[in-house]
Amino acid sequence: MRVLVTGGLGYIGSHTCCCLLDAGYEVVVVDNLVNSKIEVVDKIKTITGKDFTFYQEDVCDEKALDKIFEKEKVDAVIHFAAYKAVGESVSMPIKYYENNLGSTLKLCKVMKKHGCSKFVFSSSATVYGSPKTLPIREDFPLSTTNPYGSTKLMNEQILKDVVIANPEFSVVILRYFNPIGSHESGLIGEDPNGIPNNLMPYIVRVANKQLEILSVYGDDYDTEDGTGVRDYIHVVDLAKGHLKALEKANKDEGIFYYNLGTGTGYSVLNLVETFKRVNNVDVPYKIVGRRAGDIAACYADPTKAFEELGWKAEKGIEEMCRDSYNYILKQMEK
Ligand code: UD1
Repeated sequence: MRVLVTGGLGYIGSHTCCCLLDAGYEVVVVDNLVNSKIEVVDKIKTITGKDFTFYQEDVCDEKALDKIFEKEKVDAVIHFAAYKAVGESVSMPIKYYENNLGSTLKLCKVMKKHGCSKFVFSSSATVYGSPKTLPIREDFPLSTTNPYGSTKLMNEQILKDVVIANPEFSVVILRYFNPIGSHESGLIGEDPNGIPNNLMPYIVRVANKQLEILSVYGDDYDTEDGTGVRDYIHVVDLAKGHLKALEKANKDEGIFYYNLGTGTGYSVLNLVETFKRVNNVDVPYKIVGRRAGDIAACYADPTKAFEELGWKAEKGIEEMCRDSYNYILKQMEK
C-alpha cells in the first residue's frame, strides 16, 4: 500500500514515516521545507534502512499534486502539512486560512480525481476550546480561540462535508494532545525555528543553556500546584496511532474522530521537575503571568481510540523527557 504523507519531514510527520516504513508501507513524502529540513530525508532512511520518494512541493499547488498522484498511484493520504504557531496565526490569519484550508481542499480535489479515498487528518485538542469537564471525550462541544485552532476545526468540517457528498471516502480525524519526545535514535525530533512557543522545546533549550530561564505562565490556576496541566504524549506513540488510523480507513467508510493522548495530565512544574531528575540537569524557571488564551487543564479520555483502533499510548513521562533531551544533545554533537 502506497501512502502519501504531506509534511512528512516535520516533527510528527517524520516519526510517522519511520513507523510506516518499518511496517512495510511504501511512502511518498510531499513537503515544501518551510518548517523542516532536507536532512530529515536521509535520517528517516538511516533509521528505517528503507527508501522512499520525496517531492519538494507545496500541497497548495494543485498542478504539482496532480502530477504526483498521476505518477505514484497513491492509495491513502496522511495530511500533516500546516502552519502551527498560535501567536503568528493571530497576527497573520489570512496566511493561516489560505495555507491550512487550501491544502486540504486541493488534496481532496486531486484525491477524488484519482480515485483515492482514504484520508487521515492531523487535528488537535485545540478544537475542544475550554472544556467544561475533564477528561475530554470526542463528543464534547467544539470551539476555538485563535485562527490556528479555527483552521483545524474548519478542516474537520470540510472533511465531514466531503464524506457526506462522497460516501466512498474514509476519513479519520486524529486530535492530538501535547506531543513531546523524539525517536530513540536521537536523529529526528522537534526543532522549531527561533524562540520556541511550546513548553518542552523551551525547557530543552534552557537545559542546554541556549536560553537563560523558563517563564512558567501562571501559578494561580485551579490545578494541583497552580500551573497549567496538559496531556503530554510521546511522539512515537502518536506516530503509531496513524498506522491504526490507516487500518481503520481501509476497513470502514465514513468519518471517524479519535483523541490521541495518554489520559494523564502533568503540570508545568511536574514536567520541569521530571525533566531535571531524569536528565540530571538544571532548568531554572520563574513564575510570570498567565499567557493569553491558555486554559487551566486539558487531558484526553483515550478510550475510544483503544476500543475502536486498538491503540494506546505506551511510553511514560520519564521516557518523553529523556528522549526530548537526547535529541538536542545529539544535535549539539554536530
Ligand atoms: C499549544 C497551542 C495548541 C497547539 C499546541 C501544539 C496555545 C494556547 N495552544 O498548546 O493550540 O495545538 O500548542 O503545538 O498556544 N508554558 C509555560 N512556559 C512556556 C511555554 C508553555 O509555562 O514557555 C505552559 C503553558 O502555559 C501550558 C503548558 O506549558 O500550561 C503547555 O504549553 P504549550 O507547550 O505551549 O502547549 P499548549 O498551550 O497546550
